[in-house]
Amino acid sequence: MLLEKKKQKFDEITKDFLIDTDGLRKIMVLLEQAFDKGLAMETASSASVLMLPTYVQSIPDGTEQGEFLALDLGGTNFRIFFVKIINREMKVKSTTCCVPNDVMKATGEELFDYIAKCIAEFMKEHGLTKSKSLPLGFTFSFACKQDGLASARLIAWTKGFKASGVENEDVAELLRSACQRRGDINVDVVAVLNDTTATLMASAFERNSCQIAVIVGTGTNACYMEKLEKCGKLRKGIDFEEGTFDEMCINTEWGSFGDHGELDWLRTDFDQQVDEATINPGHQLFLKMTSGMYLGETVRAVLERLTREGVLFGGQTEGISKHGLFLTKYISEIESEFIENDGTFPKTLQILKVMGVEEVSQLDCIRVATICTLISTRAAHLIAAATATIIKRMGKPFVSIGVDGSVYRFHPTFSRLLDEKISELIDKNLKYELLLSIDGSGRGAALVAAVAMRMNKKFHC
Ligand code: GLC
Repeated sequence: MLLEKKKQKFDEITKDFLIDTDGLRKIMVLLEQAFDKGLAMETASSASVLMLPTYVQSIPDGTEQGEFLALDLGGTNFRIFFVKIINREMKVKSTTCCVPNDVMKATGEELFDYIAKCIAEFMKEHGLTKSKSLPLGFTFSFACKQDGLASARLIAWTKGFKASGVENEDVAELLRSACQRRGDINVDVVAVLNDTTATLMASAFERNSCQIAVIVGTGTNACYMEKLEKCGKLRKGIDFEEGTFDEMCINTEWGSFGDHGELDWLRTDFDQQVDEATINPGHQLFLKMTSGMYLGETVRAVLERLTREGVLFGGQTEGISKHGLFLTKYISEIESEFIENDGTFPKTLQILKVMGVEEVSQLDCIRVATICTLISTRAAHLIAAATATIIKRMGKPFVSIGVDGSVYRFHPTFSRLLDEKISELIDKNLKYELLLSIDGSGRGAALVAAVAMRMNKKFHC
């Protein structure tokens, strides 16, 4: 195929990944409507964006003290933390356990027994088994329906988890039962929270202007402090006490934006193809366009199509047609190499070779990097539009935003693209800052456990 013809084909196949500023502004309007729908009493049950109450009504005030255990389950790894909070300082010990694929898809009992086993090993290693019962904060990063801080019913698994008998169940109770079944550990599950809430708490502990948290990792999500008067579905006297706090942290679960067709005008054939091959087709469509679990596969789908059309790799589709083989971390590696460009692409060649792609020209490497850039830029811009929607909605003159997640942390340009686009999309009188929050899930869970203990103490006085 002639070079010019190849270029034309390339542009034609990839053009739908570009979203202009008007497109992003349209997304902001649609997302704001979805937020309102999710918060109103009459429409909440049929909303695409769940807007889940977290029962966290205040950010840490610095008086939190004590020793806590914290768990973080929700991505590829399961983490356990022992946190000591003394005089505004946190000392953290932690361990990471990999959740084997078969455990992710086993029965709920097996999954929670595995978690309890890891906790027991950690506690033994740190000499914590003999102490009195330790309060535990559980960061469980899936959409849950809560009716208080210490109980959370899983609405639906995402991110490759599928353990049976957990959906609709209270995960705090499943954890308590698994710990009791073992009989060798003494923990008190006092709070269950989403990773966004944990990140918000951890960032607010550092900077009390923090009122929003965003995660862009295996999945994506955000939470923010919303005025109670805008949460029509919360009931006075049942969900909140009158006259105490006037806000509640709302876990948006924005990953499912688009599930009611709101993004159909924007989704490409490739997004559809990626979605169809997942374990939950038609669900979490915004998440599937933006998060680590799916970005690599989206790139692969485009590369495969371009190869079939004769634009790449001499038309040899072997290797590139194997589902799931192009990992999201390759996007970062390939783009980093392209940015440092000295005209050679050893890393890109190595990645493609591992996948079984043999016939690779220098121009192919440049095109692969261009596709990676298109797809990661689209993700950053979509997350920017969603974040700008919250900033605009809150209307505070200044707000700090805690951000975490592997895509945000490790992709070479994601954080810059996100920041630049948010500034472009919000009114100039609204100011914000993005704060990188590392390990917020563990520290935040300990903080919420501390707040829960403090509230209980007050209650008993
Ligand atoms: C998924 C989960 C959500 C979590 C996010 C980031 O979207 O549904 O609860 O916050 O991933 O981990």
